Amino acid sequence: MNPSDLRIAIVGATGAVGQVALQLLQERNTPAEQIVAMASARSAGKKIAYGRCEIPVTEATPDAFDGLDVAFISVSAAVSKKLAPEAVKRGCLVIDDGSAFRMEQSVPLVVPEVNGTDVEWHAGVISIPNCTTTPLVMVLAALRQCSSIRSVTVATYQSVTGTGGKALAELLEQIAASLRGKSVTPSVYPHPIAFNLFPQVGAFLENGYTQEEMKMMHEVRKILHQGNLALSATCVRVPVEISHSEAVHIDFESKVSPESARESLLRFPGITLLDEPGKSLYPTPLQAAGKDSVFVGRVRQDLVLKSGLALWLSCDNLRKGAALDALQILDECVKRGCVKPQTNSRQQQPVTATSAAKLSDQ
Ligand SMILES: NC(=O)c1ccc[n+]([C@@H]2O[C@H](COP(=O)([O-])OP(=O)(O)OC[C@H]3O[C@@H](n4cnc5c(N)ncnc54)[C@H](OP(=O)(O)O)[C@@H]3O)[C@@H](O)[C@H]2O)c1
Repeated sequence: MNPSDLRIAIVGATGAVGQVALQLLQERNTPAEQIVAMASARSAGKKIAYGRCEIPVTEATPDAFDGLDVAFISVSAAVSKKLAPEAVKRGCLVIDDGSAFRMEQSVPLVVPEVNGTDVEWHAGVISIPNCTTTPLVMVLAALRQCSSIRSVTVATYQSVTGTGGKALAELLEQIAASLRGKSVTPSVYPHPIAFNLFPQVGAFLENGYTQEEMKMMHEVRKILHQGNLALSATCVRVPVEISHSEAVHIDFESKVSPESARESLLRFPGITLLDEPGKSLYPTPLQAAGKDSVFVGRVRQDLVLKSGLALWLSCDNLRKGAALDALQILDECVKRGCVKPQTNSRQQQPVTATSAAKLSDQ
């Protein structure tokens, strides 16, 4: 199957991720006629610029998927849960950006550089991970070639576009208001985000962690097929427009030198090393924004963990963290001849019985 023959729906085309998906399709010279832009009824009739053309936005209804091959869905989980089964029923491969299906056993959760083969057992829906999981799991996949990983501790610094278009508008409005000396009333977030940050991404759970923090743990385990991986995250929202950054501490089964870690990172597809701290050369969100790579730097021996490394990463949450990963999943399906579900699709058993019990307690 030639990818350029596919008819593609971008659902959520007016949103932060949908807009970047359209940009990426344009960069790949996908003809406008092959794209159907969908959003809510509120946006029906709007036009979205696409190169020299304009693509009309239509309401995402079940019948709108008739005759299409692939649906990239970037809307809330609640909307995805309604639309995705309808699209699959009509023969579409659904690649879903949200959290609706990620942990379902019949749904592969894929970062092509790490577990591309998992697309082979899809039954109509493939999920992409959360935008903090994707760069982390790439780094872990690169480094476990040096030694098995025992545990990971991570603190994230997440941009506002991770929440969507409305959060970016809120940041920009609050910055303008604050500079005029006016008070601001948050609506998307629980606190002002301009000139501030807060350790809350998603709702708090009974164990004191947030939904986002627990998502990272579950998703990393599923993608790496390592149900016993210990992971503790603290997710922080920061007043940055695009790109999430992470401070990561990894404990290995045996000692890994920073030099061999750098070599493994350099060899791994999709990772770019920026690691010359003496020249103040390390990843930043501003430098990573608009780029496809996961940028890694400040690789060093951890002073607390005996066999540990510490490092820093930044990654564009709208590109590799969302739209790019989704497009690369489609490339992987085309390459492996599984755009349509295989009749003998199997379900993955991503975690061991013990770890599954642990997961369901949380
Ligand atoms: N932002 C990120 O970095 C990121 C990364 C990974 C995954 N994701 C996931 O991607 C999804 C979209 O995120 P986003 O940041 O793009 O959000 P966003 O900017 O808020 O955009 C939401 C999109 O959903 C559409 N929508 C709302 N209700 C709809 C309905 N009933 N039917 C069809 N479309 C509807 C909106 O259309 P209207 O304009 O018509 O309302 C808009 O296009 C979320 O599930 C998010 O978790 C986001």
